[in-house]
Amino acid sequence: MSLTSQVVVHSPATVANVNCGFDVLGFCLENVCDKLALSVRTDKQLNIINETPYSVPADPNQNVTTIALQAMLSYMKKSIGLDVVFQEKIRPGSGIGSSAASCCAGVAGLNVMLGMPFSKKKLIDFALKGEQKASQAVHADNIAPCMLGGMCLIYSNAPFQHIALPYPENLSVCITQPDIQLMTQESRMLLPKSVSVRTTIQQGVHLATFVAGLYEKNRLLIRRGAKDFIAEPYRKSNIPHFDMIKKEVLNMKEALAFGISGSGPCLFALSNSLNEAEKIRLRISQIYEEKQILHKSFTSGINTVGVKVDS
Ligand code: HSE
Repeated sequence: MSLTSQVVVHSPATVANVNCGFDVLGFCLENVCDKLALSVRTDKQLNIINETPYSVPADPNQNVTTIALQAMLSYMKKSIGLDVVFQEKIRPGSGIGSSAASCCAGVAGLNVMLGMPFSKKKLIDFALKGEQKASQAVHADNIAPCMLGGMCLIYSNAPFQHIALPYPENLSVCITQPDIQLMTQESRMLLPKSVSVRTTIQQGVHLATFVAGLYEKNRLLIRRGAKDFIAEPYRKSNIPHFDMIKKEVLNMKEALAFGISGSGPCLFALSNSLNEAEKIRLRISQIYEEKQILHKSFTSGINTVGVKVDS
């Protein structure tokens, strides 16, 4: 077997749930990503090297990237030694798919090293094994958009099946990241074990309305649909001044949606253009500055490409 000896992978941040699609809807962001280098070793070890300021598990059985790599290697009945170098990392526990980016980076990189035996869609099965470790649940709402780009509606996790949704040209997002860490596993424990029939119907019709809005490029339907009756009520108290910011943002004519990105603490707001996203970004920053809440923020279009590998 001839192997490409080294690759560098850029694996993007993502927004999961998008309010109305808990665990089944997500989109891919530009500009913010994990950067991972993989290189072949002469032995059979998966050796983790962390060059980022964040803590990354050094044990390959605890690290989501190497768990995903092990799932891929075991499926192929192969044993390959790799140096797995984390060069840049999305902040863990930020709500923009840090663990998903790490899972996708490893398997996408190894796939290129091996001469592309798998489609990106198949790689999602392996990446999901790492994500499962991070959140103790199976959900591809960060993994799928990270791997494939665009806006993904996931209708099956095993086997992975999705619909690549259309969206209005120039759909843009503002991300605000308060300086706190919330781990997905813990945020999931805040949710009730079951929801009522009424909530199920309410959430179902809102997801359908949002998806109809995307297909029809109808911004009113997008705005009406993008509401969260499942997670936001239980998670919002972890996020400083959530209700006040939500009210302010949804009063802006620029806003199509506002809510918690994934399991938080990042906040996302959708808008019609990058200019509009920037206006929302400035307004949220102004509120957080007044309240002395440390935060970072950025704007982005929808990343249509997903994970990228340079060899
Ligand atoms: N759907 C997942 C959750 C996304 O909200 O728990 C985590 O990023």
